[in-house]
Amino acid sequence: MLALTEYKKNFFHCPNRLHLNNAGLAPISRQARDKILYWGNRFYEEGFYTDHDYMTDVLHSRTSLSKLIGCDFFEVAFFQSTASAISQLCFHFPLQNGDEVISWDQEYASNLYPWQEACKRAKANYILVASEKDLTTPVEKIIDKISSKTKVIALSWVQFLTGAKSDIAKLSKVTREKNIFLFVDVMQGLGIHPFHMKEWGVDAVAGGSHKWLTSPVGVGFLALDMKHMAMLKPHNVGAYTFGTCDDPTDLYCEPKRDALKFEAGSKQVLEITALGASVDLILSTKVEVIEAEVKRLSSKLKMGLEQLGFELYYNHSSIINFIPKEDSLEKLKAIPCNFAVRGPGIRLSPHAFNTDEEIEKVLTRLA
Ligand SMILES: Cc1ncc(COP(=O)(O)O)c(C=O)c1O
Repeated sequence: MLALTEYKKNFFHCPNRLHLNNAGLAPISRQARDKILYWGNRFYEEGFYTDHDYMTDVLHSRTSLSKLIGCDFFEVAFFQSTASAISQLCFHFPLQNGDEVISWDQEYASNLYPWQEACKRAKANYILVASEKDLTTPVEKIIDKISSKTKVIALSWVQFLTGAKSDIAKLSKVTREKNIFLFVDVMQGLGIHPFHMKEWGVDAVAGGSHKWLTSPVGVGFLALDMKHMAMLKPHNVGAYTFGTCDDPTDLYCEPKRDALKFEAGSKQVLEITALGASVDLILSTKVEVIEAEVKRLSSKLKMGLEQLGFELYYNHSSIINFIPKEDSLEKLKAIPCNFAVRGPGIRLSPHAFNTDEEIEKVLTRLA
């Protein structure tokens, strides 16, 4: 197991660039950078001779990611973004006229627009449940909306605006009992909070590489429980839907029976293997250790902001959203510290690689 102090050493710390928009785009780990350099160099020197090795490394990434999600490696498919992974799911989900899909009213676009469009095409009803006034998302409100027509509940585990967290274990007890398909967008939580897809009875999850998984932009993923695999036809179809690039074409061949059928062709090898390297770093540090550090740093920031008189939203995840005073943005820019203007105010989102000094610097500046 890697100590937290060692984990932090695997990130580039620059005094003039504070990374506090990790819910937007986090810096990548040293391991992810090294992996890109490694494969860049091997492709440069070896070309085709890398063939077998890079596919083995892609499989390693798939296996590591499945451990973090809590499913089997053959239930995970790589895509180019979260939106494309969700599109695969919702445009091939057997929705029918009059069915209901339920989501929160504050979902990020990548989880909102695909379901909205899928419902439109199937003449199903897309129901957006109102969050609480303070933007929290207690799952009882979702459960209240369930009817005999509810087919899917599709929500983010952690919401992108304020870090509001939905209790997936509590919700899945009901969805399992009522035979409702539960889909969770794990983008804002996977890597910093423990997730247990199979144990909790989640039917499918999707997410992407560039936030809490500290790896390059460009990889989305879908994990689908094997029991639903036959239900979902692949949207993109190519050589890898059926076999490999080396197989002769055969007009009668059948798609693969696992999630690999969703990957139609060649993959983003550099990005996927870099993602795997970062996931290995997370697994060797332990998600629970990362979670404790994220919560410690974010609650330190939260308490500091409260002492300075800021009104804020905080949900024991990483994200803090505070209502700025007149000069807050200028002060943050002067550090310089990255942040996002989102929903009610300014979003700051420390990761476990951030330090106490960085949090103190922000608080001193905003004072
Ligand atoms: C909840 C959530 N899902 C997904 C994404 C990213 O989606 P995509 O990979 O389609 O760009 C974000 C980015 O902000 C997000 O907050």
